[in-house]
Amino acid sequence: MAEHPAYPVGLRLTGRRVVVLGGGQVAQRRLPALVAAGADVLLVSPEATPSVEAMADAGEITWERRGYADGDLADAWYALIATSDPDANERASAEAERHRVWCVRSDDADRATAWTPATGRSEGVTVAVLTTDAKGRDPRHTAAVRDAVVEGLRDGTLVAPHHRTRTPGVALVGGGPGDPDLITVRGRRLLAEADVVIADRLGPRDLLAELPPHVEVIDAAKIPYGRFMAQEAINNALIEHARQGKSVVRLKGGDPYVFGRGMEELQALAEAGIPCTVVPGISSSISVPGAAGIPVTHRGVAHEFTVVSGHVAPDDERSLVDWPSLAKLTGTLVVLMGVDKIGRIAETLVAHGKSPDTPVALVQEGTTAAQRRVDATLATVAETVVAQEVRPPAVIVIGEVVGVGPHGAV
Ligand SMILES: C[S@@+](CC[C@H](N)C(=O)[O-])C[C@H]1O[C@@H](n2cnc3c(N)ncnc32)[C@H](O)[C@@H]1O
Repeated sequence: MAEHPAYPVGLRLTGRRVVVLGGGQVAQRRLPALVAAGADVLLVSPEATPSVEAMADAGEITWERRGYADGDLADAWYALIATSDPDANERASAEAERHRVWCVRSDDADRATAWTPATGRSEGVTVAVLTTDAKGRDPRHTAAVRDAVVEGLRDGTLVAPHHRTRTPGVALVGGGPGDPDLITVRGRRLLAEADVVIADRLGPRDLLAELPPHVEVIDAAKIPYGRFMAQEAINNALIEHARQGKSVVRLKGGDPYVFGRGMEELQALAEAGIPCTVVPGISSSISVPGAAGIPVTHRGVAHEFTVVSGHVAPDDERSLVDWPSLAKLTGTLVVLMGVDKIGRIAETLVAHGKSPDTPVALVQEGTTAAQRRVDATLATVAETVVAQEVRPPAVIVIGEVVGVGPHGAV
């Protein structure tokens, strides 16, 4: 028979009988997609893997514990033949042919009437990849092509120019601590769809360089604010650009809701009637210590961590932080925006009972090429910061976890 390419098609299986013969690894891999497609799956197999058995126990599929018998495929719309018995596979395949049921065979793709493509999904599109003919079938190749396409769609590097899915309004995107690889897949995709990006100084600035030339990139710190507060001016810029029908990304460092004023921006947009999507980000409060080899919790050492803003000193009446109570906690303290005030913070913690020997680490510009870690104790941190010229942005970690990592991790 001449070798023609397979004809690709999408089966709509909701409520339709699909028969799966054999309950081994092949069934285990294929069943979730059949169930997700709404198929009425009948599994015929004397045995099944624990995962397949769990699907039957959960009522997702019907399992008849026996070998294949002639007539099993009579009501099927589609069949997957994957038993370990070559004779049963042959007989079932012949029955499928007789009843004109499209059937996949795990043992002999050449003799099957259908092939399962390598599939993946992103943003409402299913990508299915098939090789052109049976001889050239190479599942690793099709899976690699599928991965490349799906990843490109997810991270926005593969965009169909005239069919861009645009998220209307503004997306508040947490960009992570600085390393461009530490933004979420969704954040990266929204960036790739943006017409305007309003970015903070912190966060993955390298990503801005990758944006196409038509994208307007605005440095949030440079928005003139005249009679407004800087934050109001940023809110107004977001609203103005969104009202012009543009896709606007507000790219923020870390997570938008961790000392990021994300909710203020969301509220201003809501008042202006502009739709807003919030994309969480990896906060520097956990990731920057981690990048410097410090876990914020560790079994037997710290069962809690508390993230505090140190932007106002403990004795400042604007401070909302209960430093005397924090001094009594046994876990890890993570201080953001605290480089300038660390001397007063350390004094206050010691005055309220923390040991002056408590280890402290300052991690400056974490996850970037300029990352630097400086170690001290509560007693020495004020002078260390000056002597070592530690500068913001830095995350300060206070507690025994500072000492638990292997030296090489730093
Ligand atoms: C205004 S807060 C924003 C925090 C951000 N929303 C987050 O979740 O990471 C800024 C502070 O975060 C910390 N920070 C952010 N990125 C950092 C980085 N790459 N290295 C060290 N500290 C960082 C510093 O303490 C800095 O002063």
